[in-house]
Amino acid sequence: MADRLDSSHGSTRALPRAADAPLRLSILGATGSIGTSTLDLVGRNPDKYEVVALTAQCNVDRLAELAITHRAKVAVVGDETHYEALKARLSGTGIRAAAGAAAIEAAAEEPADCIMAAIVGAAGLRPTFAAARQGSRVALANKECLVSAGEIFTQHVHQNGAELLPVDSEHSAAFQAIGRTPAKSIEKIILTASGGPFRTFDKERLGRVTPEEALKHPNWSMGAKVTIDSATLMNKGLELIEAFHLFPVGPHQLEAIVHPQSVVHCLVMLEDGSVMAQLSQPDMRTPIALALAWPERLATPVSRLDLITLKTLSFEAPDTDRFPALAIAIEALHRGGAAPAVLNAANEIAVTAFLEKKIGFLEIARTVAACLEKAEARGLLKGVDTLDGVLAVDEEARRMARLLLPV
Ligand SMILES: NC(=O)c1ccc[n+]([C@@H]2O[C@H](COP(=O)([O-])OP(=O)(O)OC[C@H]3O[C@@H](n4cnc5c(N)ncnc54)[C@H](OP(=O)(O)O)[C@@H]3O)[C@@H](O)[C@H]2O)c1
Repeated sequence: MADRLDSSHGSTRALPRAADAPLRLSILGATGSIGTSTLDLVGRNPDKYEVVALTAQCNVDRLAELAITHRAKVAVVGDETHYEALKARLSGTGIRAAAGAAAIEAAAEEPADCIMAAIVGAAGLRPTFAAARQGSRVALANKECLVSAGEIFTQHVHQNGAELLPVDSEHSAAFQAIGRTPAKSIEKIILTASGGPFRTFDKERLGRVTPEEALKHPNWSMGAKVTIDSATLMNKGLELIEAFHLFPVGPHQLEAIVHPQSVVHCLVMLEDGSVMAQLSQPDMRTPIALALAWPERLATPVSRLDLITLKTLSFEAPDTDRFPALAIAIEALHRGGAAPAVLNAANEIAVTAFLEKKIGFLEIARTVAACLEKAEARGLLKGVDTLDGVLAVDEEARRMARLLLPV
């Protein structure tokens, strides 16, 4: 695919601003884990960034606080019932307040040099598409956009002349490791997974894990949804689908490997026998900094890697018997069409049900697999070629997944 990434793209595309002007930055999902890490870097480099729009879904207090601290031009809350509260918090600051899903899309279209797309889940699709429409840089954390609407989204980015920079640490690593390597020389891209908090648990123990235990990731500090996805290994499956749309490789050239230290983020194997890797501490500020500053680098306070103290970097094969979500996602990647969109929607419903203690940990993957089976039987996995089509599949898959849950 011509519009998939290699890191030479970023070095040739000029951003539409004077070299010494601050980068106009909007953050969709500003109150979340990625949003907060992004604003941490902005706060450390006030002369380099000018915050345009910040959005959240309902966390008005945090949104208002961030908007005031970073002197945003506009703050948007998705849930309209919070509009009056946001307006009151921002009164007298000169910051515009807005509310509703359409207002989030409008915020994504506010002129900016870079939009950090960090809304969690398929809710991020429309705003991320809107962000790409202005033809600037999209720093993509919302992996669901590529999972559910991969080809449509990459085409949309291409048609609008936007620039896509991955934020997920593994994809940021692959982007750097590939560099200018021609597609034909890439044999394999291997994404690493920490294995999550239950890497060593047997099935019986996995059946008893609680949301509280699952939310304690050993290496990364992330939002609830992606933390649960890391524990089931669904996250790695979603990332393989994401990688398929970002890089010029086929599904059979993508693999996942468990690496408990989360220091090597990705391995790219080349036809001459070289293996290119990127290493860093598991701190999202490193890949976020790259997505903001590329082709330059931004200094971060992330602690420096000390391999002598670390001593060991270990790797093992993922166990898809204990963690079937990874195999289900890989199957959806190979199946193509709307299978990844159904996978993602069913997974979002199942993860919410697990967090609400309606189903057990092992039921997450079972629900997703059952939903994909039902969708296949109903002919729902055929490819769709519009965003509205993807969102219709997403909605129907959510309905089907809910029916699979205990009442
Ligand atoms: N966290 C990580 O380290 C990490 C790493 C790689 C990739 N990612 C990806 O980055 C994305 C964000 O992850 P996260 O961990 O930062 O999530 P998070 O901490 O849960 O934050 C999600 C953000 O999205 C907003 N939001 C939630 N539902 C929304 C909706 N329906 N409409 C509009 N906004 C909504 C939230 O607002 P409220 O606060 O008001 O709810 C919050 O600002 C996900 O796609 C994830 O897979 C995350």
